[in-house]
Amino acid sequence: MVGYAFMGAAHSQAWRTVNRVFDLPARARMALICGRDTPKVADAADRLGWDAYTTDWRDLITRDDIDVVDICTPGDSHAEIALAALAAGKHVLCEKPLANTVAEARAMTAAADTARAAGVRSMCGFNYRRVPAVTMMRQLVADGRLGVIRHVRATYLQDWIVDPQFPLVWRLQKDRAGSGALGDIGAHIIDLTQFVTGQRITGVSAVTETFVKERPLPGESSGLAATVDGAGPATGTVTVDDAAVFVARLDGGALATYEASRFATGRKNALRVEINGSLGSVVFDLERLNELEFYDATRPGVEQGFNRILVTEGEHPYMSAWWPPGHIIGYEHSFTHQMRDFIEAVATGADPAPSFADALQVQLVLDAVTRSAEIGSSWTEVEPALTAVAV
Ligand SMILES: NC(=O)c1ccc[n+]([C@@H]2O[C@H](COP(=O)([O-])OP(=O)(O)OC[C@H]3O[C@@H](n4cnc5c(N)ncnc54)[C@H](O)[C@@H]3O)[C@@H](O)[C@H]2O)c1
Repeated sequence: MVGYAFMGAAHSQAWRTVNRVFDLPARARMALICGRDTPKVADAADRLGWDAYTTDWRDLITRDDIDVVDICTPGDSHAEIALAALAAGKHVLCEKPLANTVAEARAMTAAADTARAAGVRSMCGFNYRRVPAVTMMRQLVADGRLGVIRHVRATYLQDWIVDPQFPLVWRLQKDRAGSGALGDIGAHIIDLTQFVTGQRITGVSAVTETFVKERPLPGESSGLAATVDGAGPATGTVTVDDAAVFVARLDGGALATYEASRFATGRKNALRVEINGSLGSVVFDLERLNELEFYDATRPGVEQGFNRILVTEGEHPYMSAWWPPGHIIGYEHSFTHQMRDFIEAVATGADPAPSFADALQVQLVLDAVTRSAEIGSSWTEVEPALTAVAV
């Protein structure tokens, strides 16, 4: 694994847990973790359960006993690490968004296609697909329970940079993160809604905004927390969006709205998706991730209404491996499920999803949103991926 902070910890928890919960054809051994700071990565290796540590990610590539490279770094290093790992025959799990640019994402997808021919697998970490209620949402749509999908309404709202004194961390720098709220959290709802509906976004009209344009330089940072550099009053320019809002068309005929913001005061990590179809509607809210709201318009009129389904039965996706019905799960389980599916795919020679090609398609939507916002919200088509895409 490369990176030991927020996603490094979440993925480590999943790697530690996955074989103790799921019966899988292969076992994960947590061989080597990489970070750039020796004392910190040594501490992380000990705390997170890795056998050894290194300060150079190339050590993961050159070691013969390493089969999988898990990339948990900011977007500016995804392409370089993934390309080297795939070329060396390592299976790759890469955090989202796949890359900082479409060009990088295309190169990574081409490398993944070449590697696949040699039996090397790759996957992008859109973990919310693996929340059982989200997987079940997709099944309801696929089974025709919603009929023809007319509307998709998706919001992903946070508030961790509302304070203008919050420092200029890597997530606020375009050269490190690619984009702001758009690529960080907007990417999740783009992938999630395409996954659930089986439809792809074909065009968008977008607005983006950077509300606070200058911020103090950072000291220490990890995940969504950071300190200000105590050395002085220096500031730097925010080069990404704080919020992105767009309307979209999906290739199955649905109209969609998306809102991604880090300025939604009071909203900590509020991901909500509602889908309306000709036969029913379904709603997912991450703050109540064990539940789905389902409206079945085929029921007798006097019985109609939104039903709350508690997605904790053994028949629900992933749930038979966990606890008795009603014994709820949380955020970290989505990562354990991600590792479950990844290990199974690698061990059985199947292609895991979302593939790099799927993630490239998300990147193309991010790109269309950015371009539309730059030209006064004009309608902007999503470029074709030119690679087979399965959502
Ligand atoms: N799936 C999700 O829900 C989710 C949530 C948060 C972040 N992410 C994604 O995960 C990735 C990492 O985000 P994070 O929140 O963990 O960031 P973070 O700042 O918490 O951690 C980044 C880690 O990468 C390390 N790092 C940076 N450059 C490196 C390099 N060249 N070599 C070795 N180590 C390096 C840092 O030292 C740190 O350990 C990003 O792509 C982000 O978009 C995904």
